[in-house]
Amino acid sequence: MPKILVISDSKEIESLLKPFCSECTVMGQKRKSQHPDGVLLDRYDIAFLDLSLDEWRDSLLQLRQRLPVVGFSAAEIAVAIEAMQLGVSDIIEKSLTRKAIEQTIAKHKRKFLTHSEGFDEIIGKSVLMQDVFGLIKKAALTESNVLITGESGTGKEPVARAIHRWSPRSQKSFMTINCSAIPDTLLESELFGFEKGAFTGANYTKKGILELADGGTVFFDEIGDVSPLFQTKVLRVIQEGEFMRVGGARVHHVDVRFIAATNQDLKALCRKGTFREDLYYRLNVINIHLPTLRQRMEDVPLLVQHFIRKHAPKRKDILIRDISDDALTMLMNYPYPGNVRELENIIEHTVSFTSGPEILPSSLPQVLQQSPPRKRSATPKMREAVAAYEKELIWAALQEARGNISKAAQILGIYRQQLQRKIKQLRIAT
Ligand SMILES: Nc1ncnc2c1ncn2[C@@H]1O[C@H](COP(=O)(O)OP(=O)(O)OP(=O)(O)O)[C@@H](O)[C@H]1O
Ligand SMILES: [Mg+2]
Repeated sequence: MPKILVISDSKEIESLLKPFCSECTVMGQKRKSQHPDGVLLDRYDIAFLDLSLDEWRDSLLQLRQRLPVVGFSAAEIAVAIEAMQLGVSDIIEKSLTRKAIEQTIAKHKRKFLTHSEGFDEIIGKSVLMQDVFGLIKKAALTESNVLITGESGTGKEPVARAIHRWSPRSQKSFMTINCSAIPDTLLESELFGFEKGAFTGANYTKKGILELADGGTVFFDEIGDVSPLFQTKVLRVIQEGEFMRVGGARVHHVDVRFIAATNQDLKALCRKGTFREDLYYRLNVINIHLPTLRQRMEDVPLLVQHFIRKHAPKRKDILIRDISDDALTMLMNYPYPGNVRELENIIEHTVSFTSGPEILPSSLPQVLQQSPPRKRSATPKMREAVAAYEKELIWAALQEARGNISKAAQILGIYRQQLQRKIKQLRIAT
């Protein structure tokens, strides 16, 4: 159930909304000084704003970028129109009824934050991912370009989509151009489009991604792979917002926001001279760096559940519902060099091969069966480390003394009784 924030002086609205939310906070403009600040706003999924309030505009400007805002009680149609222009996500035109509220909430559900377990379609409850969610929301508020970095498989694409979906451009297109290992000529005609007759086989005019995304967002995936020549052309579009179709002579203007992603170290590429530094700075206005899965292993169980739900419908013969504790432990002990993508592949594979409703260790792929248990922590506690070392020394002394405790004590330079106590304490089998 969503958490709803209501800005209204009306008392009745709280009882109207109560059945639809887990938490409902009503605050009127008389209590404006108590308006939640940005951090607190993040606790809510959706806001209902009373447009009959004198200061509804101020409230809207404060709220609109952080959560969907539904306007209601517009005194005149002109107010409703102005509210739409100022960025309300929706308007309830007639009076606020249960039915209207229910429908509106259902309509905006996709945008709700379930802060505890993820954001948009990105799963994660770890502190590292919560930080990423905060950055996504900040990036969505601005028009600045964003560079998303992180190892392969960390989820750079869903992050780019979430930024677009949460931005004021969400009603316009989100277009991806995959720059990896595509020859320049192809990239250019994809991005800029081409005129009829521009090259052999161009027997029609085609719009490029830039034109199609006008007003929206263009996502350059694997930007680290593009040639210096293409970088120059991209830079021009970013700087001037203009380009020409391949084989064309007319300059086209577009309004797009750029998001780029790479698993390479662009700074290092700049030093090497294979990536333009000016382009790097243009793209890297906001940087969102995604943690590896190894750094956020506490998210593994949630991701596992998510991927089971996602892939289970592929099995028509049985319904796979869950995973056994042992199998989950094995998944928690694997280092995931391929990050979330690898975990998803593992679950997908397992779902197709498992024979019961619960995933058992035996259904997991070979690679997990062999993986050595991960060390619980890189820096063990002093007491544990000392105990392990003592155990090793005593064991070695006992072996040398062929099990003779007096002799082993002599080797270790301690009293026999002391050694006996230690053996008992450390549960060493003699
Ligand atoms: N936090 C997450 N929650 C849910 N799904 C995720 C998450 N992170 C990644 N995924 C999924 O894992 C897969 C790999 O993610 P993605 O393709 O974005 O990787 P990438 O970071 O772009 O890697 P590469 O650099 O190799 O392209 C996708 O199917 C994506 O939906
Ligand atoms: Mg990718």
